[in-house]
Amino acid sequence: MPDYYIGLISGTSMDGIDAVLASFDREVLELRATHAHAYPKELGDALQATIKNPDACGLDHLGVLDRWIGECFRDAALEIVNKSGVPMADIVAIGSHGQTLRHQPAGVRPFSLQVGDPATIAAGTGITTVADFRRADIAAGGQGAPLVPPFHDWLFRAKGTHRVVLNLGGIANVTVLPGDDSPVIGFDTGPGNTLLDAWIGAQRALPYDSDGQWAASGAVITGLLDELMADEYFELLPPKSTGFEHFNLGWLKACAIEDQSPRDIQATLSELTARTVAAAIDTHAPATKEVYVCGGGAHNQDLMRRLKNRLPDKDVASTLEVGLDPDWVEAAAFAWLAMRTINKETGNLPSVTGASHRVVLGAIHYP
Ligand SMILES: Nc1ncnc2c1ncn2[C@@H]1O[C@H](COP(=O)(O)OP(=O)(O)O)[C@@H](O)[C@H]1O
Ligand SMILES: [Mg+2]
Repeated sequence: MPDYYIGLISGTSMDGIDAVLASFDREVLELRATHAHAYPKELGDALQATIKNPDACGLDHLGVLDRWIGECFRDAALEIVNKSGVPMADIVAIGSHGQTLRHQPAGVRPFSLQVGDPATIAAGTGITTVADFRRADIAAGGQGAPLVPPFHDWLFRAKGTHRVVLNLGGIANVTVLPGDDSPVIGFDTGPGNTLLDAWIGAQRALPYDSDGQWAASGAVITGLLDELMADEYFELLPPKSTGFEHFNLGWLKACAIEDQSPRDIQATLSELTARTVAAAIDTHAPATKEVYVCGGGAHNQDLMRRLKNRLPDKDVASTLEVGLDPDWVEAAAFAWLAMRTINKETGNLPSVTGASHRVVLGAIHYP
């Protein structure tokens, strides 16, 4: 019988929980069910407010958010078990990434804070729950991010072909999979969709720019693009990771955007993501032949078109081409990471995060 695991994540876009029920049978992954679980509006609003104004977040509020998000993750898990028809008792464990509230990988005491109480998930489902995946890597001197590259390595690496897996979430991250025995590298390139979502949200009260149509209707403002691209983050050498603590509307508004047309700003932000991703690949993975894209940004046709323009000598396609639907790659990664933890196997790649050594990730919560 295969081993069944559930993976749960809500990324920096905070667009809701992605859930998969995966089976692993002699190293073969199959998705048995998938489910997108929206946050209730009240919770989504509370989360947005907290992110935008972290200093106003009191301890009680933090505690309540932790339990409330835990309940949502529990409900997502229950729903996916229901959808799959797999008996509850056959599921080995849930891997829950939780919701990141704060990611500060630099400084005297680096930390990454995820909420979504795993004990609530374990108690409500009766399934062992692995969570808090980032802590052990940070304690070992790493960034605690990105954590998906070892999964990409396991699933997508091909001998003889230099590949990159690009995840276009709120933040964009790449995994460089050499076709030879060189180590895997991976890092956050900078903004993925986060600025695109924030700008259209502020201007037009929409959650995102559907298919990138608004961006496609504007023209790139070259002066602004240059100003945005001058940010130091883009020049930093990996290992590196970032979040909405850095790339947010305040960051954009510090640049010369008055008197510019809002749709041209949207076009410029889309070009910014495409350029910084392409520059990261050209600089750190020049031998790349194939780029496989996952995450919600894979649906943004304007962004994908800009990316292909910036990477003319590479094949740019969705991860579907290599066997996994782009919407479920991250959630599948956390199912896989939970399996690693349950089997007492390491889950981080020091060549990616900068940790001093490989460690078993996560804390295990029994029901
Ligand atoms: N049809 C679409 N057109 C444009 N953008 C989309 C579309 N579908 C999803 N997205 C983008 O993808 C984001 C969600 O991507 P996701 O991979 O879930 O990111 P995260 O991991 O940060 O939650 C949305 O916020 C939106 O910006
Ligand atoms: Mg998401």
